[in-house]
Amino acid sequence: MRAVDIIRKKRDGGVLTAAEIAFLIDGYCRGDIPDYQMSAFAMAVLFRGMTAEETAELTLAMARSGTQLDLSGIPGIKADKHSTGGVGDKTTLIVAPLAAAAGVPVAKMSGRGLGHTGGTIDKLESIPGFRTELAPEAFFRQVREIGLAVAGQSGDLAPADKKLYALRDVTATVDSIPLIASSVMSKKIASGADAIVLDVKTGAGAFMKTLEDAERLAEAMVAIGRLAGRRTAAVISDMDQPLGRAIGNALEVKEAIAALRGEGPEDLTKLCLTLAAHMAVLGGKAAAVDEAVPLLEGKLKSGEALEKFRAFVAAQGGDAAVVDDPDLLPAAPRRIAVKAERAGFVRRIDAEKLGLAAMVLGAGRAVKDAPIDHSVGVVLVRKLGDRVEAGDVLAELHAAREDRADAEATRLAAEAFEIGGEPPALRPLILSVVTEDGIRRGA
Ligand code: URA
Repeated sequence: MRAVDIIRKKRDGGVLTAAEIAFLIDGYCRGDIPDYQMSAFAMAVLFRGMTAEETAELTLAMARSGTQLDLSGIPGIKADKHSTGGVGDKTTLIVAPLAAAAGVPVAKMSGRGLGHTGGTIDKLESIPGFRTELAPEAFFRQVREIGLAVAGQSGDLAPADKKLYALRDVTATVDSIPLIASSVMSKKIASGADAIVLDVKTGAGAFMKTLEDAERLAEAMVAIGRLAGRRTAAVISDMDQPLGRAIGNALEVKEAIAALRGEGPEDLTKLCLTLAAHMAVLGGKAAAVDEAVPLLEGKLKSGEALEKFRAFVAAQGGDAAVVDDPDLLPAAPRRIAVKAERAGFVRRIDAEKLGLAAMVLGAGRAVKDAPIDHSVGVVLVRKLGDRVEAGDVLAELHAAREDRADAEATRLAAEAFEIGGEPPALRPLILSVVTEDGIRRGA
């Protein structure tokens, strides 16, 4: 077999065999196939696409390239969730304990944030003492004992994806549905869960700008799950504005604790209940989502979800006292109010700009491995459709140092809000659901 023949076959619209795909991925990982051939392959896939079977084979080849967690020693149907990345997206902090409280074991690997989107691991590390590096045995034991563990993604999880993603990033081949779907799912499959719930974001602040693209990506990932023998469902949710009100690590943990107390923002709570409900259905704890939602609402009301979160924080070395007193979390010393210049309705909130404002304040990284400040961020005081008067506070920046970042963050946050005379048409938070049975819009 020769790489050039496989590239030519894909370039000409052919369908690759499992052996051809494995030859490319294995050879690329070993260093036998150079970057220039892999770039040509990625570009051929971008133009010609892949069948569901080819995409699944690519995913499995990348999943096999490194460590594959075997969760079979843990009883029950183990579930994982994944978000394609949003601003203010703290859903894992709520969904994981909620699903675990309903009896679904959650074994989750998470990543750090980069650019305008945050990462769950950074959020968790804002809890004093919290450890995200867990040895596999400790990870398994914790899921067995309390039904829930979240660990930082090991460097050896799907290394083929890591290498290919870095290449795609510099060869204009990121935005290909089969390449994105296989990239995301290779890491999920290598993480070992039996059931995977995907939160695919769409809108101004998301990777997938249109609902149609988000649905195509969701369908591709659900098909991979089916072919790989993992129960998979995808919820497509709106990211035209940040989720909830808090953006920034400790601020988001605080909001997540409020949500677990049943006092969270409506949009955040609704999305978390929906995602956890799909996990409960795939995990065999409810027959349908409509049945799972009241069950999970009960877990919020009874305090069982909050208790699960407390046990999880304590098990990973964190100061569980933050659950009762979130003021123990790191807090920024200064507040800067961003005010409306005119009266009207909030017509647009650019989530990406607000994510960048939080990053500039120190909540996120412009480059990999840069240090972050857990205390800083942005809290939205107004959301889409709200009526404001001139001078009303739109958002509050939580800032640490007094420096030039203040001015840039304030400018970005102010630019993120568009105020107009007419109220905007608001679209629902949950736009569609993709399961093995197909797409359900407006679900
Ligand atoms: N996130 C991933 O993990 N992979 C992609 O290709 C795009 C987004």
